[in-house]
Amino acid sequence: MIQLTDSEFRRLVAFVRGNFGIDLSKKRLLIEARMYAVLARKKVSSFSQYFEMVRGDRNELNAMMNRLTTNHTYFMREPRHFEFLKDVILPAQEKTNRSRSLHVWSAGCSTGEEAYTAVMVMKEYFALCPGWDYRTLATDLSTRALQSAARGVYPEESLAGLPPQWRHRYFRRQSGGCALSDEIRREVIFRQLNLMEPFPFHTPFDLIFCRNVMIYFSQEARDSLVARFRDALKPGGYLFIGHSETIPHNAMGLRYIEPSIYQKGP
Ligand SMILES: C[S@@+](CC[C@H](N)C(=O)[O-])C[C@H]1O[C@@H](n2cnc3c(N)ncnc32)[C@H](O)[C@@H]1O
Repeated sequence: MIQLTDSEFRRLVAFVRGNFGIDLSKKRLLIEARMYAVLARKKVSSFSQYFEMVRGDRNELNAMMNRLTTNHTYFMREPRHFEFLKDVILPAQEKTNRSRSLHVWSAGCSTGEEAYTAVMVMKEYFALCPGWDYRTLATDLSTRALQSAARGVYPEESLAGLPPQWRHRYFRRQSGGCALSDEIRREVIFRQLNLMEPFPFHTPFDLIFCRNVMIYFSQEARDSLVARFRDALKPGGYLFIGHSETIPHNAMGLRYIEPSIYQKGP
């Protein structure tokens, strides 16, 4: 079996941290477990040889990062954020937002459940006052996760946190899982985006979800990302992070509202 040497491990960790923010320094077993089969399939004789291949080939790099990212997610994960959206953010928007458009970004969306849940919440909320535009941008590094997100077919367990009426309204059982309806799917635009690269957006966001992404990042990558999220928000816009993640309260122009919810100052 091909061995991952100490120096190859260090090189890979530095490469992934430098380019994608992800800290794999304590994930040696994960790297070995996820990469051995790939190396065998590629018929390379060492990690170094595979690494050279990856550095010169965008598709191979995507394939490696598809393997090294952790994409676990499900609908209505961390439901407090969606309650806060429905009970606090949307009523305030309804009163004050004359343009009737909301810019929402799910950053590190994985297979799409977070963005689709947000769209369902907004669709239900605005059902009685049509004319709102809440098309949502959802981005991830993993091309495999994004393909699955665009397909919109999920195992039944992934829907367990949704109200039963929503499961009936927005999904259809088919072979291989539950297919999301077009009326929700068409409200989300998926794009590949490495969060470590400059954001290519011109319009600031009302709401950014970046949940359970920064837990995998080095401290340095986290700090720079949070500062760039602040810049990408409108004054008064909200940032949701995962409940197991923290950023300094009231630092970097983001006011702590409640655990894992921050608001950009005016
Ligand atoms: C555990 S999932 C989180 C999904 C969802 N936000 C949630 O909370 O359920 C973490 C996602 O972050 C993505 N990710 C990791 N590093 C990234 C980077 N540098 N740029 C963009 N996405 C990244 C991974 O591909 C993965 O899909």
